[in-house]
Amino acid sequence: MQQRENWGSRLGFLLAAAGSAVGLGNIWRFPYLTGENGGSAFIVIYLVCVFVIGLSIMIAEFTVGRRSSLAAVGAYKSYSRNWTFVGVIGVLSGFLIMGFYPVVGGWALAYIIKSVSGLLTTPDAIGDTFVTFISGSVQPLIWMLVFLALNVAIVAKGIAGGIEKASKILMPTLLVLLIFIGIRSVSLPGADAGLKFLFSPDWSQVTGQTFLAALGQAFFSLSLGMGCMITYGSYLNKEENLAKNATIVTSLDTLCAILAGIAIFPALFAFGMTPDQGPGLVFVIVPSIFAAMGSAGVFFSTLFFIALAVAALTSSVSLLEVVVAYLIDERGMPRKRAVYSASGVMAVLCIMASLSLGVTSHITFLGVGAFDFFDILTDKIFLAVGGMLLAIFAGWVYKKEDLKDELTNGGKVQFGLFEIWYALIKYIIPIAIAVIAFMGIRSIAQTGLMIFGLLVIAVLAVFSKKL
Ligand code: PFF
Repeated sequence: MQQRENWGSRLGFLLAAAGSAVGLGNIWRFPYLTGENGGSAFIVIYLVCVFVIGLSIMIAEFTVGRRSSLAAVGAYKSYSRNWTFVGVIGVLSGFLIMGFYPVVGGWALAYIIKSVSGLLTTPDAIGDTFVTFISGSVQPLIWMLVFLALNVAIVAKGIAGGIEKASKILMPTLLVLLIFIGIRSVSLPGADAGLKFLFSPDWSQVTGQTFLAALGQAFFSLSLGMGCMITYGSYLNKEENLAKNATIVTSLDTLCAILAGIAIFPALFAFGMTPDQGPGLVFVIVPSIFAAMGSAGVFFSTLFFIALAVAALTSSVSLLEVVVAYLIDERGMPRKRAVYSASGVMAVLCIMASLSLGVTSHITFLGVGAFDFFDILTDKIFLAVGGMLLAIFAGWVYKKEDLKDELTNGGKVQFGLFEIWYALIKYIIPIAIAVIAFMGIRSIAQTGLMIFGLLVIAVLAVFSKKL
């Protein structure tokens, strides 16, 4: 076996893990889900999902990862062969999320250029520009490939030299940019309606679907339920305090989501627009907001899309790393070959996803095109079920002493909330996720897709013991 890599420093790990968590999920998806689900009531449910379920699962992922020093599949397999399939679902989720994530990452790159070259300065044309752009067959594909190539370049360099180094520069840049744009947004006249939308809950809009959307978003945003944090934890040294690191990463991720909300909604209301715009929200609204500000707007808009691309990149490298680490640990592939083969498959999936928004939009499976298929299958099913299975694995299969030993670094650090965390993982979280998934399935439009996802999990559970 090859020598296993490690993070170069604590800060490097934290920035990389936070970099994985903070991504399109925070800046692209969180605002539009908030907009679609009625604003602050969604945010309250989301925050509960993040700090009760998400944080506990992140602690569990770090623990399982560092204990085994193996990536997703190996971490499960080395403890119990029957549980290998949960790791396999994770690797599959990695492929599927990377089947649409680079498409949106490519949009962000394209919008940097569109902002700089002043193409987004006529407010009336911006919405049409977005629709025309994403449904095209050439431009979005080229940008997606550029985005994917950046991933390949970073991940091929390995842990400390690639992912860690890039995150150290890119993450602080992102935070500064978001704060900057947020200040600009709240200081616009009429911005208070947006703050009200964000911070005073209206419970009348809440349904079972809202809970599932919030739960799925919590998993997606924190990079949980697919072994990503297991993999990152596996490169972590034995001196680190796992619970503390998980708390920092979770808080940073939430801070960035809220900052993204503050950057977008006050300005959106100030300009008299509606929040329920769907996936086009940041791409249409942000340039519109800035277009009205003249040449300063070109500058702000460019900064915003740089931030979006940066955030997307530090997340997508972690998705690629989950698959690559599997190929290295379990298939004995050299890193470079693993990176090229995994990204080759992802490129094909991304081409399907991108074209499904344009020329192939008539081709659907279980009622949705490729883009939505990859998105819904992972976000609403695989990640939540993956998180639930991880909780059951940690609570019922793992020995309690092993967890305690790992979380306290063999008794060297304190974890005062251990018993509460353990009860959450063992009983409360599996039940909570099952209830939310059930409520969500009942009220979701894509019942066929949900059943399909659960069937895939069942098939993997039966067959992956041989892997
Ligand atoms: N957390 C990332 C985001 O918010 O954009 C997406 C993501 C990365 C999901 C890594 C899952 C994952 F394993």
